[in-house]
Amino acid sequence: MDSIKTGIGFRREIADDFFGQSVLDPDFIELAPENWVGLGGYWGDIFKKATKTYPVILHGLSLSIGSPEEPDWNFLKHVKEMIEELHIKIYSEHLSFAKMDNAHLYDLLPIPFRKDAIRHVVKRIQQVQDFLGMQLTLENVSYYTPVAAEMEEADFINEIVEQSGCGLLLDVNNVYVNANNHGYNAREFIDKMLLGSVNYIHMAGHLQLSPDLIIDTHGEKIIDPVYDLFDYTAGKMKPVPVLLERDFNFPESEELAGEMKRLKEISTKNWRDYVVQS
Ligand SMILES: [Fe+2]
Repeated sequence: MDSIKTGIGFRREIADDFFGQSVLDPDFIELAPENWVGLGGYWGDIFKKATKTYPVILHGLSLSIGSPEEPDWNFLKHVKEMIEELHIKIYSEHLSFAKMDNAHLYDLLPIPFRKDAIRHVVKRIQQVQDFLGMQLTLENVSYYTPVAAEMEEADFINEIVEQSGCGLLLDVNNVYVNANNHGYNAREFIDKMLLGSVNYIHMAGHLQLSPDLIIDTHGEKIIDPVYDLFDYTAGKMKPVPVLLERDFNFPESEELAGEMKRLKEISTKNWRDYVVQS
């Protein structure tokens, strides 16, 4: 995808609005393979219809690339089949861990920002990339307490991206949330990122509980400072697909369409010349 593309997660709650009148008319949809693999019946048919209508980017939930254990190769076999069947170009996941000793933790926890963790994660990413025969794209996650950190988050992410050759899913809202919660400057964080490795962007809303605590809910509309941070980021990089990430508390789809429109406008402002030239 080298032109300007704006998408939204395909969720059951709003599925009707992707068809017929099509209030939501995204350039692509994002799907979590965990929610659709092997599904038959009514929702299996909806899945087929959606994937025939729209290009798909995958965004997984359970890879848990930072876990000590081996990845679930059986599940990844199904993901690989989906990638081949739907001609998927981007399979994204979280730079985090969500299970340990076979227990699912039901949260995406930050990997300790440490050299030994980098070695472990890089090895895992390379194993998964070899298995899938494609690049993996990993997302910077929001976190509430760094664990046993010995370096900054930006350096940690950059080293992993450089050493493993993975792509970066830059969640701009997560940068904003972490900057607020951990007291750093969001633009300086963006400046440090390897923006040439970013191949996908997430934009979302959050819940500000107090001046120094934001919870990353994906259940609110995107606020102006996060649009501004996206504008700043887009001005420093090439076009990549941009996703409106909304998982809960769904408003009328017209409101979501409005948010996508605003994302498209900012993308076009920053990337118009690039697209015309290429
Ligand atoms: Fe995200």
